[in-house]
Amino acid sequence: RPGARPPRRRRSPVTRPFRIGVAGLGTVGAEVVKLLRDRRDLLAARCGRALDVAAVSARDRGRDRGVPLDDAEWFDDACALAHRRLDAVVETIGGADGVAFDLVSQALDRGVGVVTANKALIALHGAGLAERAEKSGAPLGFEAAVAGGVPVVKALREGLAANRIERVYGILNGTCNFVLTDMRKTGRAFDAALAEAQALGYAEADPALDIDGVDAAHKLAILASLAFGTRVDFGSVFVEGVRAIEPVDIAWAEELGYRIKLLGIAERRADGLSQRVHPCMVPRELPIAAVDGADNAVAVESDRAGATVCEGPGAGAGPTASAVVADLLDHARGLRLPAFSLPAAGLGTAPAIPVERRRGAYYVRLAVSDRPGVIADIAACLRDRSVSMESLVQRGREAGGVVPVVMTTHAVEEAAMRAALADIARLDSVAGAPRLIRIESL
Ligand code: HSE
Repeated sequence: RPGARPPRRRRSPVTRPFRIGVAGLGTVGAEVVKLLRDRRDLLAARCGRALDVAAVSARDRGRDRGVPLDDAEWFDDACALAHRRLDAVVETIGGADGVAFDLVSQALDRGVGVVTANKALIALHGAGLAERAEKSGAPLGFEAAVAGGVPVVKALREGLAANRIERVYGILNGTCNFVLTDMRKTGRAFDAALAEAQALGYAEADPALDIDGVDAAHKLAILASLAFGTRVDFGSVFVEGVRAIEPVDIAWAEELGYRIKLLGIAERRADGLSQRVHPCMVPRELPIAAVDGADNAVAVESDRAGATVCEGPGAGAGPTASAVVADLLDHARGLRLPAFSLPAAGLGTAPAIPVERRRGAYYVRLAVSDRPGVIADIAACLRDRSVSMESLVQRGREAGGVVPVVMTTHAVEEAAMRAALADIARLDSVAGAPRLIRIESL
């Protein structure tokens, strides 16, 4: 129309760069910065705005991290990032409490989005942090906290959102899976295999968190919350690591047709929620038995989608940074979802089912004196607790000496199995503590 004023051009807020602060420049933090730089154009195209690393914080300014940091403002105090004008803070400091917790809570309280790879933090404080996030409207992303580069948090929170989920389980620790695979393939001892995993950058700063099953338990507690809509309940997870697995058990597993895997298993039952992490013998023909090295795999059993599996690298800088940056993209795109599938106020609680109520089969290895009547005594202990034996093998002959006995049972409640084992351990003819590994047919 002649004389009409041309419409005023408003600068779209989405064209403003998305300003990121990265706290912690260890293996993962440095890789996040690198990925954001290397893929700058692609990421900008995917979310409609540039992703800039505007600020960083780490203890040692002098260290060469293989990535230029000159454009970013540097802060000695990570919590200062919560007070900058940032759109998101990436937390890769680690630890459930201390600076990581302070930074994340302060950022969320101020409406700054948070992306974290910190499973301990989410496993112990997840529901509280989700509440804080919802209150201020800031998004909280933790894809990198579970199964590294495998997008399983997104799968549960979004892809399977229409389902009632009955069970979620999987291989959740790359270090343990690497160690068990390496022991099986090379015959190497546990310590040597662990040293190799550490050298490859899979292990936590304190590798005890990996091999004692705690890292997998953190991840399982997070998965259970996402799957069942319950508040994260790390305290109820039964945890047993892989430290006690010996090469002889790996060899027996092979002979019996199983593979030993450290699994995390969370199940919804009528009487509550069962969460457990422990070494399992799984039938060798199952797909999960073939997941080797540092890979993770998470299987979800849902009522409509059926059985789905996500599998891939569960540890290491590249995969973890991939997950962190995916969350940043979501935040930059404006995606705002409840952190745990449901708004925090809607997250429920469920009674914890103790492992003593697990029903399943068992592998037991004993060292016994090689003399007549020993097997009859062991069988009597099993009979008295109503444990049904499936197979029993005694190898070697060393009159008066100690020989190994390996047996497998039919399905039985764990309380009965433990009681039988306690009786067996008290027999004069049994040397040392029996070794027990749960058999999971899945
Ligand atoms: N230490 C962990 C693992 C790294 O071995 O899986 C990823 O959380």
